[in-house]
Amino acid sequence: MRVLVTGAGGRLGSDVLARLRDDGMRVRASSRRPRTGPDVEWVVADLATGDGLAEAVTGVDTVLHLASSPRGRTHQVDVLGTRRLVVAAAAAGVSHLVYISIVGVDRVPIPYYRHKLAAEQVVAAGPVPWSVLRATQFPQFLDDLLATSARLGPVLGDRAVLAQPVDPAEVAARLAARLAAGPLGGIEEFGGPQVLRFDEAVRAWREARGSRRPLLPVRIPGRLGRELRAGGLVTEALPRGVRTWADHLSDTYGGTARR
Ligand SMILES: NC(=O)c1ccc[n+]([C@@H]2O[C@H](COP(=O)([O-])OP(=O)(O)OC[C@H]3O[C@@H](n4cnc5c(N)ncnc54)[C@H](OP(=O)(O)O)[C@@H]3O)[C@@H](O)[C@H]2O)c1
Repeated sequence: MRVLVTGAGGRLGSDVLARLRDDGMRVRASSRRPRTGPDVEWVVADLATGDGLAEAVTGVDTVLHLASSPRGRTHQVDVLGTRRLVVAAAAAGVSHLVYISIVGVDRVPIPYYRHKLAAEQVVAAGPVPWSVLRATQFPQFLDDLLATSARLGPVLGDRAVLAQPVDPAEVAARLAARLAAGPLGGIEEFGGPQVLRFDEAVRAWREARGSRRPLLPVRIPGRLGRELRAGGLVTEALPRGVRTWADHLSDTYGGTARR
């Protein structure tokens, strides 16, 4: 089976490529710029314009669609770009398209999530047999968020927001398993092993970094805050990943972060 991976140069993409290589799959990977790498055929394709998409899907059996543009042109790339990809994949006779989405896109009122939900709907309404995997946040995302906040002074955050970080390598394994299992025609969720309150996550992060930055509590107002505190970003779905936030902190900062 030959698989096309979109967004293959991104954070999740690099774990997906490693996983598919280990599984012995024939992999084509797309990016907006020319790249090279071992055991992977790189092609150039842009979801925003459609350039290169027809060539990217020609001769592949399945597509793992990871590409996304959260920080600008999101509708153009994530929603319309996904539609362009589905149309091209249908024309090429692709037998399964797996789309990576995010736990909470149907609950948490963030503009990016609205676009991810619309992209899910494009996939589900299209002619190509499909699966959607909604994952919770990667620990690197939370880490980046905290580091950005700490650069400005205290770490700002709503203590009671719930998060469930999941290791992207485990998400990659789950995507590969879904690919092997065939089209679900539905949505499955996958989260990390622990549901953490934001203040717990920050405490462990500060200890791991030896940081003295205090947490300055803010209460996120309105429906957004209510959803985030009520667990809009977490899932009870089983199985879960096994690598914890403490594992990520220990890998990233060394030492013995508390489990
Ligand atoms: N980060 C999280 O915590 C998280 C959690 C759950 C689900 N997800 C989902 O997982 C996926 C990957 O996330 P990530 O964190 O790995 O993102 P990432 O590192 O930003 O990778 C996304 C990739 O999308 C590609 N891309 C952007 N605009 C494009 C365009 N116009 N045409 C084609 N490709 C384009 C980029 O590849 P090039 O620059 O090489 O073109 C980029 O490497 C996303 O769909 C995201 O919503 C993320």
